[in-house]
Amino acid sequence: MIKIISEMSKATDYNQEKVVIVGSGLMGSGIGQAFATAGFKVTLVDLNSELLERARERIKDSLEFLSGTGLVTESSEKILDRITFATDLKSAAKDATFIEEAIFENLAAKKELFVTLDQESTSNCVLASNTSSLPVSQIAQSCKHPERIVGAHFWNPPQLMAAVEVVKGERTSDDTIQRAVSVLRKAGKKPAVVNKDVPGQIGIRILYAMIREATSLVEKGVATPEDIDTIVKEALGTRLEVLGPLELADLSGVDLVYNVAKGGLYKSLDSSEEPQKILREMVERKQLGIKTGKGFYDWTGSRNAESTIKMRDDHLIKILKERKESRAEI
Ligand SMILES: NC(=O)c1ccc[n+]([C@@H]2O[C@H](COP(=O)([O-])OP(=O)(O)OC[C@H]3O[C@@H](n4cnc5c(N)ncnc54)[C@H](O)[C@@H]3O)[C@@H](O)[C@H]2O)c1
Repeated sequence: MIKIISEMSKATDYNQEKVVIVGSGLMGSGIGQAFATAGFKVTLVDLNSELLERARERIKDSLEFLSGTGLVTESSEKILDRITFATDLKSAAKDATFIEEAIFENLAAKKELFVTLDQESTSNCVLASNTSSLPVSQIAQSCKHPERIVGAHFWNPPQLMAAVEVVKGERTSDDTIQRAVSVLRKAGKKPAVVNKDVPGQIGIRILYAMIREATSLVEKGVATPEDIDTIVKEALGTRLEVLGPLELADLSGVDLVYNVAKGGLYKSLDSSEEPQKILREMVERKQLGIKTGKGFYDWTGSRNAESTIKMRDDHLIKILKERKESRAEI
C-alpha cells in the first residue's frame, strides 16, 4: 500500500499494462482500486451497469476516506479516471495483459469464465483467479492454455492488505508465475509464491490450524473465547507483524522447537479431521456469528459488525501510516 502511494507519481510507467478485473463485488472493486491507485489503467467488468455503479461508489468512498488519512495523495477523480467500467467482457479481454477474476466462489462459473478469457485474450496475457478455496488446476481444466492461468489470492480489504498468494496450478508455467509476481509488485503488493495447489494456500491453512486449536480449547473448557482471543492478539499478534512463525522458530532455536514438539505438545494439539461437535451444534442452533447476532460472542451490543470492521480498518491504516513515515525517514 505504501509503495502504491510512493509510486503514484510514476503512474505513466505502467501504461504498458492493461489490467482487467472480472467481478466488481467486495474483492474486485478493492483490487481495481489498488491497481488504479498504483497507476495502472484498469477495466472493471461485471454483469450489469447497476453493479458497476455500486462498485464505482464503493471505490470513490474508499478513496475519499483514504485521502482523509493522508495515505492517498492523488485526487480520487484522477484515480477513478484510470478505471473503465464495462459489461462487455470479450472486448475488455482483447488487449489485456493481466486479468484478475473475482466472481462468485463457484467452480463451474469460474471454469466457464476462464474458457472465455482463454479464448478472447492474447497469448501474452496472464489469467489470474482470486479463488480462496478452489484448485487452480481445476479452474484451468477446460482451457487450451492452462500454462498462463495462476491463482492470485488477495486478502480482504485488498486496497489495504499487501499480501497476495500467487498459486501455481499443475500446468502453470514459471513464466506466468514470474509475470504475476512482477505485476503485483508494481502494484505495491507483497506476493508470495505457493508452489503447490494445496487447499487453503498458505494463509488460510495457518488460520484454520489456529481456528481448529482455538475451538478445541473452548470445547475442552481450557479457556473462554475472550481469553483465547486476548492471548492470540496480545501475545502472538503483536510479534507476528514483524516475525513470522519460522523466524520465531529460528529465534527460539530449532532444537527447542523440536524438543517442545516431541515432548508431547504436538500429540496434545487438536488433530480432528472433522469440524468439532461444538461447531456443528452452533451451526445447528443458527449461532453463526455476526450475521445472526451470536457466535462465540454476542454481536448485538457494543461489539457489532460495523464497529469491528472500523476497528480493523483503523488499525490497518495506522500500520500503513507508520510504515510510510518510517520509509520517509530513511
Ligand atoms: N470476500 C472475501 O473476504 C474474499 C477474500 C479473498 C478472496 N475472495 C474470493 O474472491 C472472489 C470474489 O469474492 P467477493 O467477496 O468479492 O464476491 P462478491 O459476491 O462480492 O462479488 C462477486 C461479483 O462477481 C460478479 N460476477 C459474477 N459472475 C460474473 C461474470 N461471469 N462476469 C462478471 N462478473 C460476474 C457478481 O455480479 C458480483 O458483483 C471469490 O472467489 C472469493 O472466494 C473473497
